[in-house]
Amino acid sequence: MKLGISTLPKKWLEEIINLAAECVVVVDCKGTVVYINSAYCEFLETTMEEALGKPVQEVIENTRMHMVAKNGQAEVAVVQPIKGSEMVANRYPLYIDNELVGAVGTVMFRNPQEWLNYSRKIQPLLKELKYYKTKFEKELKSKYRLEDLVGESPEFSEAKRLARRVSSSQSSILLSGESGTGKELFAHAIHQMSPRGHFPFVRVNCASIPENLLESELFGYEEGAFTGAKRGGKKGKFELAQHGTVLLDEIGDMSIHMQSKLLRVLQEKEVERVGGQAPVPVDVRIIAATHRNLEKMVQDGEFRQDLYYRLNVMKIEIPPLRERKEDIILVALKLLIKLEEKFNNQGIELSVEAAELLRNHAWPGNVRELENVLERAVNVLDGKIIRGAHLPLYLQDGNVRPSLAYTQLKSPEVMSHITKTSIQPLREIIASAEKEAIIEALRLTNGNKKLAAEMLKIGKTSLYDKCTSYNIK
Ligand SMILES: Nc1ncnc2c1ncn2[C@@H]1O[C@H](COP(=O)(O)OP(=O)(O)OP(=O)(O)O)[C@@H](O)[C@H]1O
Ligand SMILES: [Mg+2]
Repeated sequence: MKLGISTLPKKWLEEIINLAAECVVVVDCKGTVVYINSAYCEFLETTMEEALGKPVQEVIENTRMHMVAKNGQAEVAVVQPIKGSEMVANRYPLYIDNELVGAVGTVMFRNPQEWLNYSRKIQPLLKELKYYKTKFEKELKSKYRLEDLVGESPEFSEAKRLARRVSSSQSSILLSGESGTGKELFAHAIHQMSPRGHFPFVRVNCASIPENLLESELFGYEEGAFTGAKRGGKKGKFELAQHGTVLLDEIGDMSIHMQSKLLRVLQEKEVERVGGQAPVPVDVRIIAATHRNLEKMVQDGEFRQDLYYRLNVMKIEIPPLRERKEDIILVALKLLIKLEEKFNNQGIELSVEAAELLRNHAWPGNVRELENVLERAVNVLDGKIIRGAHLPLYLQDGNVRPSLAYTQLKSPEVMSHITKTSIQPLREIIASAEKEAIIEALRLTNGNKKLAAEMLKIGKTSLYDKCTSYNIK
């Protein structure tokens, strides 16, 4: 027996239509209802007998079925108000043997509740998708601008000036500086100022990716390149950064083998995916960063000289914090603002004593160390003022002379952030500065009061009086 739709009993066909779409209506090319299923009739509060043979406009309010049957243009997922609810309808032209003979209409959701139930299932998925999309896009954007790099010392200002100048060029840049000096921040800022700023910024940490994975991370791979390779392959960081910037962070930790591969990319301006056939052209600007001494590594044969020259077209050296002491408090205050946000604890101030301890420390871990010290302090804070006791012991061991703070913290902006509560009366500050100066002068002159008075440019009697009143022997 030949099977097919023609052999199905009429009752079956009806039920199949009912199951396939809850509400179905069919009109001929004049817009007359030639078929309507029971579910639609129920929804419209009519009967088949009543609806069949009538112009569709008389059966369904706000319908456009007769237009679709005439113009042959499908209308998919359009909102149609019926009986005070907004339902979602599909209208398809019905072509038989290439001839427009009518239209088929279905209702996807008969009321907002149905739509709501459906969208309740879909919404979390859409939200999740949006989250990952923005997260991914954010990852590929530079996060810092030059204004975010706090520091006014001549050395630091010079580094910022250089960064601004080189940002517009296409050449590679080498950022060198001790750990925690802000190399990554500079890379972000340079990208952001450059004409590539609207394209991706992609950072690769050459030290943290295992040697055998670095190649596929950087250059990507084709499907089936190795066991576990993703379907469809994967783009490498260079391809992801197309027209943008790649930061090769910790470049000093890259193996000699990878250095050769990288050099090839820089020379040919194309990458070869692992397991790939044809090279892919890439247009990226390279910024390399390291805390290691690349010159010495070249001398010792640990870093390829040719690669070094390619990367070192322009070099920016970022000075360590201890060489820009005047910036320490400025940076600390900027970091405190960040911490205030993080801990939702506004109005935190630095006491003069704490500020002085921060200034006197050598900061081998630079800004990152300062950040950690302040975060720890904010954590152990009982009020709003960071005092010496809130700092780690290795900072408190420093020799503090609070009065010094006033000569060194000259900016009024800085002063307004340093707490007033720990400031002594001016009379006492002057007295203690005077006392210190006299002790220092006497120390330098081996206790010779006459010479000391000359050094201090005051009279001998005046010095004697001051020694008595300050109890200096
Ligand atoms: N001038 C600055 N102003 C404000 N914050 C800074 C500054 N420099 C660095 N930071 C902060 O200090 C931290 C360390 O900076 P970054 O990661 O750029 O250092 P790095 O030089 O890359 O260090 P490493 O060599 O260890 O990777 C970051 O959290 C950054 O926000
Ligand atoms: Mg870094």
